[in-house]
Formats: sequence, C-alpha cells, structure tokens
Amino acid sequence: MKTLVAYFSASGNTASLAKRLAKAADADLFEIRPVEPYTDADLKWTNPLARCNKEKFGKKSVPIEGRVDNFDEYDMVYIGFPVWYYAAPNIIETFVKSYDFSGKRVALFATSGGSDIAKAPAKLQPLMKGEIVGAKLFSPDAAYPELNVWTNSFK
Ligand SMILES: Cc1cc2nc3c(=O)[nH]c(=O)nc-3n(C[C@H](O)[C@H](O)[C@H](O)COP(=O)(O)O)c2cc1C
Repeated sequence: MKTLVAYFSASGNTASLAKRLAKAADADLFEIRPVEPYTDADLKWTNPLARCNKEKFGKKSVPIEGRVDNFDEYDMVYIGFPVWYYAAPNIIETFVKSYDFSGKRVALFATSGGSDIAKAPAKLQPLMKGEIVGAKLFSPDAAYPELNVWTNSFK
C-alpha cells in the first residue's frame, strides 16, 4: 500500500504532528503551501479585514505551490490541517479539488485550539470521489503509540 500524508500548517502545530504521522504510517510527506504565504496579520481572525476572514467569508480558493508527484499511485491519503472556523481551511478544499481521489481512502487529521474535527468530513466528502474513512483531532505533540494505533487501523 502506498500512502501519502499531505498537510497544511500556518503556525507549525500541524506540521510537527504530520511529520510524526508520516513516519507512523510509513508515508510520503507533502506540505500544502499557499502560493502567497500567510503572515501573522493574515491570521488575525479578530480583524474582520484579515486575509483569513476574507478567504473564509468570500469562499475564496487558495492557490497552492507545486503539486504532489504521481498522485495516482497512492492508495491512502491522509490530509492534515488546523481547524479554522470549526472546519478545514479553504486551502484544503482547493487541494481536494485539485486531484482525482477516485478509488482512494482518505483520513483527515487536525490540530485546533479546542474545537473538534467533526464537521470537516461532511464538508469535504462531496468535493472528492475517494472515501473518507476516518477523521481525528490530535494534540500537536501526540506521540507514536497513539499515532501508530490510528494509522494501523487503516492498514
Ligand atoms: C484563522 C483561524 C481560525 C481558527 N479557528 C479555530 C476554530 O474554529 N476552533 C479552534 O479550536 N481553533 C481555531 N483556530 C486555532 C488553530 O486551529 C490552532 O491554533 C492550530 O493548532 C494551528 O495549527 P497550525 O500551527 O498547524 O497552523 C484558528 C486559527 C486561525 C489562524
């Protein structure tokens, strides 16, 4: 089974988790990076005019730097992100729409400030042909025993 971990991380929490998850899943790693990197000001959701709010409420797609090589070869794709506005950031929707997930299994993982990941699968499933088989919120410092148990459940 060939496995990919693709993740977006604005401030590092999801990145640190994704790197360990990729080892636990014996997966390749792809960072979903916006063409235009987020600045601190872009992420200030308390400012109505901040980029994050414009993207969210303007339902904007977020152009991504580069592409996954040989995406068609993967059987299982993990997609990681910080919970934004109780859901996945728009860049994750852009990512999902950019590839053909037919025949693939997909598992979502996230970090957050306290919200759960529960709303994300129902929002992302209609955007892809693959099947979302799992979704889990982790602490950014989640350790191997927990990550192994979760990834082994998809093997
Ligand atoms: C624009 C924005 C919206 C957010 N919305 C939520 C939210 O709805 N619920 C929550 O628990 N945390 C929210 N957070 C906090 C992040 O989910 C949390 O800090 C996460 O661990 C950041 O991951 P990262 O370092 O990989 O970017 C939000 C953060 C930002 C920047």
